Amino acid sequence: MQVHDTIAGLRAARKGTARVALVPTMGNLHDGHIALMKQARSQGDLVIASIFVNRLQFRPGEDFEAYPRTFEADCERLEAAGVDHLFAPTEAEMYPQPQTYHIEPSPEQAGILDGEFRPGHFRGVATVVMKLFQIVQPTVALFGKKDFQQLMVIRNMVRDFALPIEIIGGETIRAADGLALSSRNGYLSEAERAEAPRLFAVLTKVIEAVHAGSRDFTLLEQGAIAELQAHGWSPDYVALRKKLDLQLPSAHDSGLVVLAAARLGSTRLIDNLEV
Ligand code: PAJ
Repeated sequence: MQVHDTIAGLRAARKGTARVALVPTMGNLHDGHIALMKQARSQGDLVIASIFVNRLQFRPGEDFEAYPRTFEADCERLEAAGVDHLFAPTEAEMYPQPQTYHIEPSPEQAGILDGEFRPGHFRGVATVVMKLFQIVQPTVALFGKKDFQQLMVIRNMVRDFALPIEIIGGETIRAADGLALSSRNGYLSEAERAEAPRLFAVLTKVIEAVHAGSRDFTLLEQGAIAELQAHGWSPDYVALRKKLDLQLPSAHDSGLVVLAAARLGSTRLIDNLEV
């Protein structure tokens, strides 16, 4: 695997290959990231991963500084997964001067759910992903369903700007106890790690209730929030939404997803399950 820290270097490596699959990450790679790399292998003649902790998508007071950076171990995992090129730019390479143009997703998609609790987050994500797309010019890009709203924002950006890029969503990879893998799981204490699978368990219960015919979505959401609170969590939201646009469903809608974000101690975890 070749590692590139400049845009020019990456572009030279990419040149002349028809099918290029890109997997953007912020590093501290786990099996969820690696599953995307392996899926990318079947999509591209070249597989390019990126590692860049994107300051634009963190709010003041969030964990930009503390975000785990494990470059050496990440390189080994990418190499083993068959990645051809890693683009790992410095901040000075990506943002030589403060970014003056941004991709602003509509408030309907970026001001709800995680966007309500992390204003500006999806603007930062969309901006860096657009920039990565311009640099790498992939034919296919892969994102995890773990970040369901992020996947939607990027799909819509590609559609709205008619980018010639196919977006593929990878299934959420979980630990044996159900906890969705996340770089932020490393922040959890031992006791918190033991409690953390409850988020998945609570979402599973909501899904089961919907499958069993329950259509009082508000009641299901409130039940889930109460159960989390009873075990020491501070939930931001538990929300049953339409999969396609994450808007509120009516009772007869199918194609639903339940999404949640909640803090356990100082760690904010997100998860979702499709109905
Ligand atoms: P990061 O959190 O590093 O995630 C990189 C990719 O891995 C994302 O598409 C994310 O959805 C996916 N992913 C994370 N955990 C996963 C899991 N347990 N199962 C499957 N896929 C998983 O998401 C970002 O970085 C950034 O916002 C980024 C898109 C790179 C823009 O900066």
